Amino acid sequence: MHLTLILTDDMSRGQRLARNLGADKRALLHDLYGDDAPPAGAGLIISDVSALTSESVRRLRHALTLARGPETPFLMLIHGNFGRGELQATALGATRALPASAANALLLNTVAGLTDGGVARTPTRGGLHDQATAARDVFASIFRADGPPNVATVESGAALVNQAIRETKVRDWLAVVANFDDNTHRHCLSVAGLAAEFARTLGLNEADSRYLVKGALLHDIGKAKIPRAILNKPAPLTPEERREMDRHPAIGHAMLVNENYDPLTLAVVRSHHEYLDGSGYPDGLRDKEIPDLVRLITISDIFAALIEARPYKAAKSAGEAYAILKSMGPKLDGDLVRAFAAVAGACDVPQRASA
Ligand SMILES: [Fe+2]
Ligand SMILES: [Fe+2]
Repeated sequence: MHLTLILTDDMSRGQRLARNLGADKRALLHDLYGDDAPPAGAGLIISDVSALTSESVRRLRHALTLARGPETPFLMLIHGNFGRGELQATALGATRALPASAANALLLNTVAGLTDGGVARTPTRGGLHDQATAARDVFASIFRADGPPNVATVESGAALVNQAIRETKVRDWLAVVANFDDNTHRHCLSVAGLAAEFARTLGLNEADSRYLVKGALLHDIGKAKIPRAILNKPAPLTPEERREMDRHPAIGHAMLVNENYDPLTLAVVRSHHEYLDGSGYPDGLRDKEIPDLVRLITISDIFAALIEARPYKAAKSAGEAYAILKSMGPKLDGDLVRAFAAVAGACDVPQRASA
């Protein structure tokens, strides 16, 4: 059994991490500020350092020099701003970085990938199911009416979806996600998977792709405050219920506007139901008023809704859904709709009815 070496600046938090790795993992804690040298020979090194000061980075680099072999995978857990921490992780030669607040299922999945030859495994169908379930658990912790979602948690969910879509086929992701019970879990994870595939098709880099997926996960966050009886109604909405439902972009924007979310992500949440011809809501924006990122999410969102089954409507096939996107003409960005053809083509197996 491989030894996992945990480099930490807080031994009690390190112990919690060791416990979270499970009883089958032999984990050894090393206090970054202690006097002892860390042992060499671990099969995996995880660092869990809360504040990346110049001193802690110096100590971390020194510990890695002593403990890490040429093939040893190194997972860096990031506290605070993930983007900044990820740059630091790259500078330290980390194999992977994850937000420290990542759901345990995501941590375990990543550890399993790293300890299997240092390269993330190509997931089997079971592996994909685990990834989708982990993403669902992360999303469930984001999608709550009692407070705004934590930025790092959203980023961990986006990293997970992005990883899954890189390693598998989007149609398999959609098929697994279609079996989840909750309408909003199904929908937002479908939009996120489609956005990740769209990013891949467009040749976006990893960071831009994750950014897009983050927007996809958050786009309907305002629905967390819409009554569940409306959200999960097994029938078409009445006009009054529809008016209530259509408040979700403004509600979501209000939930996030005073948190640490960037303006483009806020625009995704507020404006993903806007159309280029001004016929959308809530603000009736037009053309250039709608950023590209929002246009990408809007296309993924409409397509996802069309291929989802509801008790009162059958799922459309990917081909039918794409034909509807094309028929929307000036409402959507024509170039992006054309680019989406490759995504639709990768989803061409009809979805299983799930409700
Ligand atoms: Fe929406
Ligand atoms: Fe949506």
